[in-house]
Amino acid sequence: MRKPKLNESMFKTRLSKVLRTKKLGKSIYVFNELDSTQDYANALPNNESLHGTTVIARKQNMGKGRIGRTWISPEGGLWMSIIIIPDFNLADIIFTQFIGSLAVVDAVFENTKINCKLMWPNDILINGKKVCGILTDVNAENEIKKIVVGIGLNANIESSSINNYLTDDNLKATTLKEEYGNDIDLIILIKSILERMEYYYDNFLSCGNTLEIVDRWKERSDMFGKKAIVYDGNQQVMGEIIDLDQNGALLMKLSDTSIRKIIYYDNVSLH
Ligand code: BTN
Repeated sequence: MRKPKLNESMFKTRLSKVLRTKKLGKSIYVFNELDSTQDYANALPNNESLHGTTVIARKQNMGKGRIGRTWISPEGGLWMSIIIIPDFNLADIIFTQFIGSLAVVDAVFENTKINCKLMWPNDILINGKKVCGILTDVNAENEIKKIVVGIGLNANIESSSINNYLTDDNLKATTLKEEYGNDIDLIILIKSILERMEYYYDNFLSCGNTLEIVDRWKERSDMFGKKAIVYDGNQQVMGEIIDLDQNGALLMKLSDTSIRKIIYYDNVSLH
């Protein structure tokens, strides 16, 4: 028998009851329907007390993807944005992306025993198909800066409802439901993600560009040794991905054996 659908306040109460974090998710907004959790979180006035505030929507009407793309977000997916009031140098912004994606990979493993793979800088794949994307927005125009980490995880949905929209990534979409064979409790998944995110964020604050985050990211990515193309204006540069450095840049070896750093704003895809 299908479980009855929780209303917004029941969803919030159940999540708050199971969540074991100090800050992330301590303040939660849940909506049955919203244009975009990212836009909602971006619009909240920058304020220290917002740190950890989490916005969740069961369905988004105008979900935002990276590079101005649309993110199709039907009911059943996990669509949420987490606010971070940064206690670190914004030059290290890529680490929030890593923290978000490592948290998703750990949470998916905890709940399904599926090992996802990371694709720099923000994609999470299962069997070569994209199951989750992370979008990081920086609101830096005020004295108090605000980072919004948006997580779009295709959880309990069919990939046929979203596939067409991911072709720009050169990646096909998949969903947890299809890979795992069952629906997953979204509240438990959100709980795991927020707990793992807090763990990595605390670790990052206490140790800086930590070996742990870089090492874990490397362990969970299978990009190394593969050929890739980085787009530099109208030019395409091809090479082999060989490493991730301590600043979160990908290192690509070119045919003349020189090393090119691929940084956060670069557009790279596997060949
Ligand atoms: C990507 O393009 O890979 C990133 C997709 C990020 C989508 C999430 S869903 C929750 C949050 N709200 C949005 O409008 N976008 C992000």
